[in-house]
Amino acid sequence: MQTPVLEIDHLSKSYGHIKALDDFTLTIHKGEVFGILGPNGSGKTTTLGILLDILKADRGNYRWFGKLPDSYVRRRIGALLEQPLFYPYLSAVRNLELVADIKGAKYDEIDGILKKVGLYERKTSKFKTFSLGMKQRLAIAAALIGNPEVLILDEPTNGLDPKSIAEIRNLIIDIANKGLTVILASHLLDEVQKTCSHVAILDKGKSLHSGKVEDVLNSSSQLELKSENMSILKTATSKFEFVSESKVEKETLVLSLKQDVDPAWVNKELAGQGIYLSHISLRKRSLESYFLELLSGNDA
Ligand SMILES: Nc1ncnc2c1ncn2[C@@H]1O[C@H](COP(=O)(O)OP(=O)(O)OP(=O)(O)O)[C@@H](O)[C@H]1O
Ligand SMILES: [Mg+2]
Repeated sequence: MQTPVLEIDHLSKSYGHIKALDDFTLTIHKGEVFGILGPNGSGKTTTLGILLDILKADRGNYRWFGKLPDSYVRRRIGALLEQPLFYPYLSAVRNLELVADIKGAKYDEIDGILKKVGLYERKTSKFKTFSLGMKQRLAIAAALIGNPEVLILDEPTNGLDPKSIAEIRNLIIDIANKGLTVILASHLLDEVQKTCSHVAILDKGKSLHSGKVEDVLNSSSQLELKSENMSILKTATSKFEFVSESKVEKETLVLSLKQDVDPAWVNKELAGQGIYLSHISLRKRSLESYFLELLSGNDA
Protein backbone atom coordinates (compact mmCIF):
# COMPACT_ATOMS: atom_id res chain seq x y z
CA MET A 1 0.00 0.00 0.00
CA GLN A 2 1.26 3.44 -0.95
CA THR A 3 2.25 5.83 1.84
CA PRO A 4 -0.67 8.20 2.38
CA VAL A 5 -0.14 11.80 1.29
CA LEU A 6 -1.40 13.01 4.64
CA GLU A 7 -2.12 11.39 7.98
CA ILE A 8 -3.79 13.55 10.59
CA ASP A 9 -3.62 11.96 14.00
CA HIS A 10 -5.86 13.16 16.85
CA LEU A 11 -5.31 16.88 16.35
CA SER A 12 -6.81 19.27 18.90
CA LYS A 13 -6.58 23.01 19.26
CA SER A 14 -8.39 25.43 21.55
CA TYR A 15 -8.58 29.19 21.68
CA GLY A 16 -9.33 29.84 25.33
CA HIS A 17 -12.49 27.86 26.04
CA ILE A 18 -13.35 27.46 22.34
CA LYS A 19 -12.41 24.05 20.98
CA ALA A 20 -11.57 24.93 17.39
CA LEU A 21 -10.44 21.38 16.68
CA ASP A 22 -11.34 18.38 18.80
CA ASP A 23 -9.48 15.10 18.27
CA PHE A 24 -9.51 15.25 14.46
CA THR A 25 -8.15 12.18 12.65
CA LEU A 26 -8.05 11.73 8.88
CA THR A 27 -6.03 9.98 6.14
CA ILE A 28 -5.72 11.28 2.59
CA HIS A 29 -4.28 9.27 -0.32
CA LYS A 30 -2.68 10.35 -3.57
CA GLY A 31 -5.09 11.57 -6.25
CA GLU A 32 -8.01 12.13 -3.90
CA VAL A 33 -9.89 15.39 -4.02
CA PHE A 34 -10.68 15.65 -0.35
CA GLY A 35 -13.34 18.08 0.81
CA ILE A 36 -13.30 19.31 4.38
CA LEU A 37 -16.89 20.34 4.72
CA GLY A 38 -18.31 22.20 7.67
CA PRO A 39 -20.35 25.23 8.66
CA ASN A 40 -18.73 28.56 9.53
CA GLY A 41 -16.51 28.24 12.56
CA SER A 42 -16.27 24.44 12.42
CA GLY A 43 -12.45 24.40 12.35
CA LYS A 44 -11.60 24.09 8.65
CA THR A 45 -9.16 27.01 8.41
CA THR A 46 -7.67 26.04 11.77
CA THR A 47 -6.99 22.54 10.38
CA LEU A 48 -5.35 23.88 7.23
CA GLY A 49 -3.34 26.40 9.28
CA ILE A 50 -1.94 23.58 11.41
CA LEU A 51 -1.17 21.43 8.36
CA LEU A 52 0.79 24.32 6.84
CA ASP A 53 2.62 25.00 10.09
CA ILE A 54 1.13 28.48 10.45
CA LEU A 55 -0.64 27.39 13.66
CA LYS A 56 0.47 25.03 16.38
CA ALA A 57 -1.79 22.22 17.58
CA ASP A 58 -2.26 21.66 21.31
CA ARG A 59 -2.28 17.90 20.84
CA GLY A 60 -1.82 15.32 18.11
CA ASN A 61 0.37 15.35 15.04
CA TYR A 62 0.33 14.93 11.29
CA ARG A 63 2.56 13.44 8.64
CA TRP A 64 2.95 14.58 5.08
CA PHE A 65 4.15 11.75 2.79
CA GLY A 66 4.82 9.63 5.87
CA LYS A 67 7.18 12.17 7.42
CA LEU A 68 6.89 14.64 10.22
CA PRO A 69 6.78 18.10 8.62
CA ASP A 70 9.98 19.86 7.62
CA SER A 71 10.72 22.58 5.10
CA TYR A 72 11.53 20.10 2.33
CA VAL A 73 8.17 18.35 2.71
CA ARG A 74 6.35 21.66 2.68
CA ARG A 75 7.82 22.51 -0.72
CA ARG A 76 5.70 19.69 -2.13
CA ILE A 77 2.52 21.51 -1.05
CA GLY A 78 0.88 24.49 -2.75
CA ALA A 79 -1.66 26.42 -0.71
CA LEU A 80 -4.28 29.08 -1.03
CA LEU A 81 -5.45 30.18 2.40
CA GLU A 82 -8.10 32.87 2.34
CA GLN A 83 -6.99 36.01 0.48
CA PRO A 84 -3.45 35.97 -0.89
CA LEU A 85 -1.55 39.22 -1.17
CA PHE A 86 -0.68 40.44 -4.60
CA TYR A 87 0.76 43.80 -5.59
CA PRO A 88 -2.08 45.82 -7.17
CA TYR A 89 0.11 47.84 -9.56
CA LEU A 90 2.13 44.90 -10.85
CA SER A 91 1.02 42.66 -13.71
CA ALA A 92 -0.25 39.11 -13.23
CA VAL A 93 2.97 37.66 -14.58
CA ARG A 94 5.19 39.90 -12.43
CA ASN A 95 3.21 38.96 -9.33
CA LEU A 96 3.73 35.28 -10.15
CA GLU A 97 7.46 35.89 -10.72
CA LEU A 98 7.68 37.26 -7.20
CA VAL A 99 5.90 34.15 -5.90
CA ALA A 100 8.38 32.01 -7.87
CA ASP A 101 11.28 33.93 -6.25
CA ILE A 102 9.92 33.17 -2.79
CA LYS A 103 9.43 29.49 -3.61
CA GLY A 104 12.77 29.17 -5.42
CA ALA A 105 10.96 28.11 -8.60
CA LYS A 106 11.92 28.92 -12.19
CA TYR A 107 10.04 31.53 -14.22
CA ASP A 108 9.65 29.25 -17.23
CA GLU A 109 6.69 27.38 -15.73
CA ILE A 110 4.67 30.60 -15.30
CA ASP A 111 3.24 30.84 -18.83
CA GLY A 112 1.98 27.26 -18.68
CA ILE A 113 0.30 27.91 -15.34
CA LEU A 114 -1.29 31.13 -16.63
CA LYS A 115 -2.70 29.14 -19.56
CA LYS A 116 -4.02 26.47 -17.21
CA VAL A 117 -5.96 29.00 -15.12
CA GLY A 118 -7.14 30.88 -18.22
CA LEU A 119 -5.27 34.14 -17.59
CA TYR A 120 -2.56 33.90 -20.23
CA GLU A 121 -4.18 36.57 -22.45
CA ARG A 122 -4.30 38.94 -19.47
CA LYS A 123 -0.82 38.21 -18.16
CA THR A 124 0.42 41.79 -18.60
CA SER A 125 -2.68 43.40 -17.03
CA LYS A 126 -2.21 44.94 -13.61
CA PHE A 127 -3.62 42.88 -10.73
CA LYS A 128 -5.92 45.76 -9.67
CA THR A 129 -7.76 45.59 -13.01
CA PHE A 130 -8.76 41.96 -12.42
CA SER A 131 -12.27 40.85 -11.54
CA LEU A 132 -12.80 38.85 -8.34
CA GLY A 133 -12.92 35.57 -10.32
CA MET A 134 -9.67 36.44 -12.12
CA LYS A 135 -8.00 37.33 -8.82
CA GLN A 136 -9.03 33.96 -7.45
CA ARG A 137 -7.68 32.16 -10.51
CA LEU A 138 -4.40 34.04 -10.12
CA ALA A 139 -4.29 32.89 -6.49
CA ILE A 140 -4.66 29.28 -7.63
CA ALA A 141 -1.91 29.94 -10.19
CA ALA A 142 0.35 31.17 -7.37
CA ALA A 143 -0.37 27.99 -5.40
CA LEU A 144 0.58 25.88 -8.44
CA ILE A 145 4.03 27.46 -8.80
CA GLY A 146 6.85 25.14 -7.80
CA ASN A 147 5.03 22.09 -9.18
CA PRO A 148 3.43 20.92 -5.91
CA GLU A 149 2.08 17.41 -5.42
CA VAL A 150 -0.68 18.62 -3.14
CA LEU A 151 -2.88 21.65 -3.54
CA ILE A 152 -4.63 23.08 -0.48
CA LEU A 153 -7.52 25.45 -1.11
CA ASP A 154 -9.51 27.26 1.56
CA GLU A 155 -12.93 28.35 0.28
CA PRO A 156 -11.68 28.93 -3.28
CA THR A 157 -15.02 30.19 -4.59
CA ASN A 158 -15.93 32.58 -1.80
CA GLY A 159 -17.70 35.64 -3.15
CA LEU A 160 -17.77 34.50 -6.77
CA ASP A 161 -20.73 34.46 -9.14
CA PRO A 162 -22.12 31.14 -10.46
CA LYS A 163 -20.15 31.32 -13.73
CA SER A 164 -16.85 31.97 -11.95
CA ILE A 165 -17.67 29.24 -9.43
CA ALA A 166 -18.17 26.77 -12.28
CA GLU A 167 -14.85 27.89 -13.85
CA ILE A 168 -12.94 27.40 -10.61
CA ARG A 169 -14.65 24.06 -10.07
CA ASN A 170 -13.64 22.85 -13.54
CA LEU A 171 -10.13 24.09 -12.95
CA ILE A 172 -9.89 22.08 -9.71
CA ILE A 173 -11.25 18.96 -11.44
CA ASP A 174 -8.72 19.50 -14.24
CA ILE A 175 -5.86 19.84 -11.77
CA ALA A 176 -6.98 16.70 -9.92
CA ASN A 177 -7.18 14.76 -13.18
CA LYS A 178 -3.48 15.44 -13.70
CA GLY A 179 -2.81 13.42 -10.53
CA LEU A 180 -2.48 16.17 -7.93
CA THR A 181 -4.01 15.53 -4.55
CA VAL A 182 -6.37 18.35 -3.62
CA ILE A 183 -7.57 19.31 -0.15
CA LEU A 184 -10.47 21.70 -0.31
CA ALA A 185 -12.10 23.38 2.67
CA SER A 186 -15.59 24.60 2.00
CA HIS A 187 -18.90 25.31 3.67
CA LEU A 188 -20.67 24.78 0.32
CA LEU A 189 -22.25 21.36 0.01
CA ASP A 190 -22.81 21.68 -3.66
CA GLU A 191 -19.17 22.53 -4.25
CA VAL A 192 -17.97 19.48 -2.34
CA GLN A 193 -20.56 17.20 -3.96
CA LYS A 194 -19.56 18.33 -7.45
CA THR A 195 -15.77 18.54 -7.05
CA CYS A 196 -14.63 16.11 -4.39
CA SER A 197 -14.09 12.36 -4.41
CA HIS A 198 -13.93 12.21 -0.61
CA VAL A 199 -15.31 14.25 2.23
CA ALA A 200 -14.79 14.79 5.93
CA ILE A 201 -17.65 16.52 7.68
CA LEU A 202 -16.56 18.80 10.50
CA ASP A 203 -18.76 20.45 13.09
CA LYS A 204 -17.57 22.29 16.19
CA GLY A 205 -14.08 20.94 15.61
CA LYS A 206 -15.20 17.30 15.49
CA SER A 207 -15.21 14.98 12.50
CA LEU A 208 -18.71 13.53 12.15
CA HIS A 209 -18.03 11.42 9.07
CA SER A 210 -15.32 10.78 6.52
CA GLY A 211 -15.31 8.68 3.38
CA LYS A 212 -16.20 8.64 -0.31
CA VAL A 213 -18.75 11.20 -1.50
CA GLU A 214 -20.16 8.49 -3.77
CA ASP A 215 -20.93 6.24 -0.80
CA VAL A 216 -22.99 9.00 0.80
CA LEU A 217 -24.85 9.64 -2.45
CA ASN A 218 -25.50 5.95 -3.15
CA SER A 219 -26.98 5.19 0.21
CA SER A 220 -30.72 5.49 0.22
CA SER A 221 -31.98 7.43 3.15
CA GLN A 222 -35.72 7.63 2.80
CA LEU A 223 -38.64 5.61 1.52
CA GLU A 224 -41.83 7.21 0.19
CA LEU A 225 -45.09 5.32 0.56
CA LYS A 226 -48.71 6.02 -0.32
CA SER A 227 -51.79 4.02 0.38
CA GLU A 228 -55.52 4.64 0.64
CA ASN A 229 -55.56 4.55 4.42
CA MET A 230 -52.55 6.49 5.60
CA SER A 231 -53.13 5.97 9.31
CA ILE A 232 -53.17 2.18 8.94
CA LEU A 233 -50.02 2.47 6.82
CA LYS A 234 -48.36 4.61 9.44
CA THR A 235 -49.14 2.15 12.22
CA ALA A 236 -47.91 -0.81 10.19
CA THR A 237 -44.61 0.84 9.20
CA SER A 238 -43.92 2.05 12.72
CA LYS A 239 -43.19 -1.59 13.55
CA PHE A 240 -40.34 -1.82 11.04
CA GLU A 241 -36.99 -1.88 12.81
CA PHE A 242 -35.11 -0.15 9.99
CA VAL A 243 -37.19 3.03 10.32
CA SER A 244 -35.71 5.82 12.40
CA GLU A 245 -38.38 8.44 11.80
CA SER A 246 -41.61 8.82 9.88
CA LYS A 247 -43.52 11.87 8.75
CA VAL A 248 -46.23 12.77 6.28
CA GLU A 249 -45.27 15.14 3.47
CA LYS A 250 -47.94 16.10 0.93
CA GLU A 251 -50.04 12.97 1.51
CA THR A 252 -46.96 10.77 1.26
CA LEU A 253 -45.52 8.86 4.16
CA VAL A 254 -41.76 9.45 4.29
CA LEU A 255 -39.73 6.95 6.31
CA SER A 256 -36.14 7.76 7.26
CA LEU A 257 -34.07 4.59 7.08
CA LYS A 258 -31.33 3.38 9.38
CA GLN A 259 -30.09 1.00 6.67
CA ASP A 260 -30.75 0.07 3.03
CA VAL A 261 -34.00 -1.81 2.44
CA ASP A 262 -35.49 -3.52 -0.58
CA PRO A 263 -38.74 -1.76 -1.56
CA ALA A 264 -40.04 -5.03 -3.02
CA TRP A 265 -39.77 -6.62 0.42
CA VAL A 266 -41.62 -3.70 2.02
CA ASN A 267 -44.36 -3.92 -0.60
CA LYS A 268 -44.82 -7.67 -0.07
CA GLU A 269 -44.75 -7.38 3.70
CA LEU A 270 -47.45 -4.69 3.71
CA ALA A 271 -49.56 -6.55 1.14
CA GLY A 272 -49.40 -9.55 3.48
CA GLN A 273 -51.11 -7.34 6.07
CA GLY A 274 -53.77 -6.28 3.56
CA ILE A 275 -52.20 -2.88 2.90
CA TYR A 276 -51.86 -2.13 -0.80
CA LEU A 277 -49.53 0.66 -1.87
CA SER A 278 -50.31 3.10 -4.66
CA HIS A 279 -46.75 4.45 -4.54
CA ILE A 280 -43.39 3.27 -3.25
CA SER A 281 -40.05 4.88 -4.03
CA LEU A 282 -36.58 5.18 -2.54
CA ARG A 283 -35.09 8.63 -2.17
CA LYS A 284 -31.34 8.82 -2.78
CA ARG A 285 -29.45 10.78 -0.25
CA SER A 286 -27.96 14.10 -1.20
CA LEU A 287 -24.86 15.27 0.58
CA GLU A 288 -27.03 18.08 1.90
CA SER A 289 -29.59 15.84 3.58
CA TYR A 290 -26.82 13.71 5.09
CA PHE A 291 -24.92 16.78 6.27
CA LEU A 292 -28.00 18.26 7.94
CA GLU A 293 -28.83 14.91 9.56
CA LEU A 294 -25.31 14.69 11.00
CA LEU A 295 -25.32 18.28 12.20
CA SER A 296 -28.68 17.98 13.90
CA GLY A 297 -27.42 14.84 15.67
CA ASN A 298 -24.38 16.82 16.86
CA ASP A 299 -26.49 19.64 18.34
CA ALA A 300 -27.60 17.62 21.31
N1 LIG B 1 -7.16 33.52 16.38
C1 LIG B 1 -8.26 33.07 16.97
N2 LIG B 1 -8.58 33.45 18.22
C2 LIG B 1 -9.69 32.99 18.82
N3 LIG B 1 -10.56 32.13 18.25
C3 LIG B 1 -10.29 31.70 17.02
C4 LIG B 1 -9.14 32.15 16.28
N4 LIG B 1 -9.15 31.54 15.07
C5 LIG B 1 -10.25 30.76 15.04
N5 LIG B 1 -10.95 30.87 16.19
C6 LIG B 1 -12.20 30.13 16.53
O1 LIG B 1 -12.02 28.77 16.24
C7 LIG B 1 -13.20 28.21 15.66
C8 LIG B 1 -12.86 27.60 14.31
O2 LIG B 1 -12.52 28.64 13.40
P1 LIG B 1 -12.07 28.36 11.90
O3 LIG B 1 -11.63 29.65 11.31
O4 LIG B 1 -11.12 27.23 11.87
O5 LIG B 1 -13.43 27.89 11.24
P2 LIG B 1 -13.81 27.66 9.69
O6 LIG B 1 -14.44 26.31 9.66
O7 LIG B 1 -12.65 27.91 8.82
O8 LIG B 1 -14.95 28.75 9.47
P3 LIG B 1 -15.34 29.61 8.16
O9 LIG B 1 -16.23 28.71 7.34
O10 LIG B 1 -16.12 30.75 8.72
O11 LIG B 1 -14.08 30.00 7.46
C9 LIG B 1 -14.21 29.35 15.61
O12 LIG B 1 -15.02 29.24 16.74
C10 LIG B 1 -13.35 30.60 15.68
O13 LIG B 1 -14.04 31.65 16.26
MG1 LIG C 1 -12.34 29.25 7.27
